[in-house]
Amino acid sequence: MDSNTATHCHPLISESLPLDVKTFTFQAGEANKNLGTCSLIWQWMTEEGFDRKALIINLGGGVTGDMGGFCAATYKRGIRFINIPTTLLSQVDASVGGKLGIDFNGFKNHIGVFAQPEAVIISELFLGTLPEAELRSGYAEVIKHGLIRSSNYFHCLKAEGWQNQSWRDIIEKSVSIKKEVVEKDPKESGLRKILNFGHTIGHAFESYYLDTPSHLLHGEAIAIGMICETYLSHKKLGLSLSEMEKIIQMLTSVYGKFDFQMKAVPAIIELCGQDKKNEGKSINFSLLKHIGECDYNINVSKEEIEESILYYQS
Ligand SMILES: NC(=O)c1ccc[n+]([C@@H]2O[C@H](COP(=O)([O-])OP(=O)(O)OC[C@H]3O[C@@H](n4cnc5c(N)ncnc54)[C@H](O)[C@@H]3O)[C@@H](O)[C@H]2O)c1
Ligand SMILES: [Zn+2]
Repeated sequence: MDSNTATHCHPLISESLPLDVKTFTFQAGEANKNLGTCSLIWQWMTEEGFDRKALIINLGGGVTGDMGGFCAATYKRGIRFINIPTTLLSQVDASVGGKLGIDFNGFKNHIGVFAQPEAVIISELFLGTLPEAELRSGYAEVIKHGLIRSSNYFHCLKAEGWQNQSWRDIIEKSVSIKKEVVEKDPKESGLRKILNFGHTIGHAFESYYLDTPSHLLHGEAIAIGMICETYLSHKKLGLSLSEMEKIIQMLTSVYGKFDFQMKAVPAIIELCGQDKKNEGKSINFSLLKHIGECDYNINVSKEEIEESILYYQS
């Protein structure tokens, strides 16, 4: 667990754990999802004498799950692990798909493996102590799930008063959507790319503002990306104006508008080109045909990306 989940989440499950369970806590934050922390975790596992029958329980958000899972999947060529995700983002996104890993030399999720946990245990009770900004960040992935796969779901999600809704139902629906997509395409050769909707431009914003005072949470950046990519969906795939307006209204009412300087735009466009789903030089996007239906491998030019960012700004 990390320093926050040790305080807020461990007490909720400690009575259900075996008495002789050993714990390891690292300092919370993406900055610690690195080889240095892995080294401490492997060292702890070694000193405790964990053998190949040991079981690791990762209690925390995506950072804990990705890194704890990676350490388990590589320790003595792989031991079993269970994930108990405690942020909305990790419950609806990182909990499914078997992607594990760490950041390396400034590259996000650069080193990692695919491996499946023995189980994933999710409870909405953990969300009670999650800061609202983190809850809102995870909500962007929820909105994305509706947009790419289920118009009904999208239309059930709240914009006004989004903080108060049935998270249990939302988690269940979102997990089922992510699971269905991942199971059809486990290694991201096709369909799974639809999960990247909003992420090509969103990641570029996230990277650009990393380590700056305007720093964006993942979901905040993805919300910007989804607005730009909704515009591109309209332009490239004929997403209707009325659907485009519905989407943008929803996103701006939850996330407001992010102010950025136009001089940042060329660098942000360059960062779009570095996204991992690009084969060769062309920039491929996943875009919406309708609310609930997403297509992938849509080639978009840098001029069009710029236009979509200007659209956001206006
Ligand atoms: N493996 C995947 O498929 C996948 C998918 C999406 C994201 N990710 C990864 O997940 C990470 C982001 O996940 P995240 O947003 O959960 O980040 P995180 O794990 O850093 O958690 C966010 C913050 O919330 C705190 N926290 C967690 N649970 C809490 C609770 N119940 N109460 C109070 N505080 C709590 C954490 O300590 C942290 O400060 C990134 O590293 C990203 O790369 C992985
Ligand atoms: Zn995401």
